[in-house]
Order: sequence, then C-alpha cells, then structure tokens
Amino acid sequence: MVKQRQLEKLKQRVEPENWTDGIEMPLALMGACHEDPAILASLAFRSIISAKQFSREQIVQLCRLAAKFEASQNAGYFPLTGRILISAFYEPSTRTRLSFESVWQRLGGDIISITDPSTTGIAKGESYHDVAEMMNHYGDVVVLRDSNEDAIYEMHDALRIPIVNAGNGIDEHPTQALADVYAIFKWQPALMVGGVDPKDRITIGIIGVPGRMRTVRSLLTLLSRFSGSINEVIIVSNTDEVFSEGQREELEKDGLRLRVTTELNKALPNMDIVYINAIAWVGDSYEELGTEYALTTKSPLKKNAIILHPLARGDELDTGLDSTPHNWYFAQARGAVYMRMALLSTLMRF
Ligand code: CP
Repeated sequence: MVKQRQLEKLKQRVEPENWTDGIEMPLALMGACHEDPAILASLAFRSIISAKQFSREQIVQLCRLAAKFEASQNAGYFPLTGRILISAFYEPSTRTRLSFESVWQRLGGDIISITDPSTTGIAKGESYHDVAEMMNHYGDVVVLRDSNEDAIYEMHDALRIPIVNAGNGIDEHPTQALADVYAIFKWQPALMVGGVDPKDRITIGIIGVPGRMRTVRSLLTLLSRFSGSINEVIIVSNTDEVFSEGQREELEKDGLRLRVTTELNKALPNMDIVYINAIAWVGDSYEELGTEYALTTKSPLKKNAIILHPLARGDELDTGLDSTPHNWYFAQARGAVYMRMALLSTLMRF
C-alpha cells in the first residue's frame, strides 16, 4: 500500500542531480598531472585480466581521463558507434554489469548480453574455449564475470578481440580496483603524483581477506604502485590465511608496508582510508568473512577518514554512515562509471 511519505514524494517532480556538485574533485585531479595519451596507447586493443598489467603511469593517465569524462559528463562524444560489447555475466552483479553497459551505450556502442549461463551452450557442456571462438564473430570486446577463475583464461586463449575481467572467482577484479584508486586520488590528488613528504603519507586500513577477496587482491596490487605515498596498509582480519601464496612477499617487494591485526577498534583511529568488504564469491554462492567486524556511527574513525566499500554491503557497514562525510562508497561507485569509460575508450582506440 502507498505510504503517506511516498504520496508526498509522488507530488514532486523528479529532478536530476546537479551534475556540477563535486566537480571540483575531478578538476583538481586533472590539475595535478599532465595528460599524456601516449602512455595509454599501449593499452589499445589489449585484454585486461589482472591489476598487475597496469603501470603506475597508466593508472595515473586512466584516472586523469576518467576525471575528464566526469568533469565534462561526456557531452556529445560517441567513439564506440557501430561497435558491439558482449556483456557476459555468469555471476550476479549490480554495479559492474550496469556500469559497463551504461558506459558502452553512452559512448555510442551497442550491446549483446548474457546474464544467465543456463541460456547458453555452457549449460550443454560447451567449453569456454568454443564459446569464445564464437564470440570473435559477434562483437568487438567481451566483458566477463564468472565465479570460475579459470574461465577468463580459457576464453582469452580463443579470443581475437579483447576481454575484460569483471571479476573471476576469488582471483581479481581489476576495474573495481581502478575505480577504488580513482576515488582515492580524487580525495587527495597529491597521493597520485608522488614525492609525498613522509609525514603526509596515509595509512590505509583494509577490513577483509586479501587472499580470498578479488576486490582486495586487485586493489593492493594497484596500491603497491603508489607505495611511496602510503605509510602503512593495515589488514584487519582474524582469518588464519590472510594472504595467498607469495602475495604478501610480492606486495612488500613493491614497497608496500603491510601489517595484520585482529583488533579493529584499536587500529581505526590511525586510518585515513578504511576499505571494508565482507564477501568472497566461491562457486555458485558467496562466503562471508570477518562478520564480527563492522563500521558504525560509533566506530572510532579519524575525523577526516573516508570509507570505501566495493558494495554490495551487508551488516558490516551501517547505513547510519551514509549521511556522514565518511561516506565515499557511493562516490566510489559513481566514479566507476567514468573509470570504465576511460578504460573502454582506451581499449577501443586502435
Ligand atoms: N563492486 C561490484 O563488483 O559490485 P557488483 O557485484 O554489483 O558488480
């Protein structure tokens, strides 16, 4: 039944958000570094499977291009006209699928999509290799999400068009990590530029399990490219195996200073950024990790700390925080649209 509050809202016109609200942030990021398209040229017509593929300079230029799209709202630019995206999501998604599809259409392209593998030959035992061989003839790029972490590699072997990893099991989610660092660099562009004075380096808290969460794994890889701007990354977890084999060593080799703790509230007052996630996709379902950890309006957060979350959220992130300045998770999700715009337009520029 319609409630009184909804009746009142129904009387109002729906007004779009004023798109210039917050525009100073992408503008500040753009002002912090020069545009250098040559650095992105090497990504043209490449597949994107891992965050490890990105150099520091490429991340900076992708952030700058994303900021350019955000600041201009991509007015009247349709470089993907006549191109087709094959959007293959064999695992649930709200943000990643809809933002990729929205971006592709806003850039002028068309889409064919699969949201249920049972409607494709995979249900009849067809191999990923053969599905990919067919896709070569149907579109210009594939975006794949699959809980089977090997699926993307099998398809990559057979593809002659680029494939983008939109999340493969517990392995990687590189475009989410690009969106995460884009949010961080809009918050403090100086962190992206480098040469940060030791006293201004930030402490990042990650409430999650790097060895089992694809978002966290890819984010740590990208952060390791900017280790000179980071004082320390504190992982909050009470899992026995926090890192996968060789993961910690590789991050530390790249200069990231890592510490693991089980005591969230003791560590929180030191964190400038708090990244929280509680879900890892495994097989056809998900496992919740670290359910004893939660952020609420009562958490001892630093006054200016920002909270990031890849979403979807559960009980670990109190909705009471939505209306506080700590909430950067919705801006993070919004920025993913512009980051994917930057990435897709770069991949298709050939
Ligand atoms: N962040 C993220 O991957 O969200 P979805 O699962 O909704 O795509």
